[in-house]
Amino acid sequence: MNKIKKIQKKKNKSKIVCLTAYSKNIAEEIDKYTDLILVGDSLGSVLYNYRTTRNVTLNMMIEHAKSVRQGVTKSLMVVDLPYNTYRNKIEALKCSKKIIKETKCDAVKLEGGLKIIEIVKHLTKNKIPVMGHVGILPQSVQGKFRFKGKNLKEQKQILSDAIALEEAGVFSVVIEGVEKNLSKLITNKIKIPTIGIGASNYCDGQILVTDDILGLTKSKIKFVKNYFNMKKSIRLAAKKYRLDVISKKFPSKKYLY
Ligand code: KIV
Repeated sequence: MNKIKKIQKKKNKSKIVCLTAYSKNIAEEIDKYTDLILVGDSLGSVLYNYRTTRNVTLNMMIEHAKSVRQGVTKSLMVVDLPYNTYRNKIEALKCSKKIIKETKCDAVKLEGGLKIIEIVKHLTKNKIPVMGHVGILPQSVQGKFRFKGKNLKEQKQILSDAIALEEAGVFSVVIEGVEKNLSKLITNKIKIPTIGIGASNYCDGQILVTDDILGLTKSKIKFVKNYFNMKKSIRLAAKKYRLDVISKKFPSKKYLY
């Protein structure tokens, strides 16, 4: 069974575990426990300190994805189409093909619903496996992120986006920063798996940014759960190394040719 089908079959049976990765070493470790690994354009803010993901380029995504590819064997690997790479059908298809060809990823993800539906249809018609993304759309936000689905107009729009994406042939959809009852409604309404980030455990699966769960970022976002203090471990290792170098304990005989 192919990896997409395997993930889709989990709907209503078991939860789908997803995380982001931007490089081989991290991908290799998380791959043991994930169903899907996303090379997200969140790398712009997480690694490059950009104020918005809009500054992330196609080449950046390709280089990071090539690295991730070397660490992923088991999980489905998805790569974000960055901002300004899917303004029209032709551009979207060209960029998706380039990403898939150069990185050997399994699928691409793009943000938006009804507004980009013709573009999504064009991709799926051309056999590009696509993951959707509704709710908070970071590429469209200039400034603070605002929780979505508080009013009826927004709820209707996000639900219609998700339904339209399913009809356009996406294999799954990320729901970001959305009120829990709306996530529940969408998850029950569509047949493809929903992957939540800040969207409650009504979703079929969950995704978080790996650097956040490792405590590598200063994220104070409510929906982020921190599982480890990696900054502390890095500091400790660097401190021990410094002491060894200064005291000439390193390199000892063991490390000499
Ligand atoms: O860019 C990203 O990492 C994402 C996920 C967090 C869903 O889109």
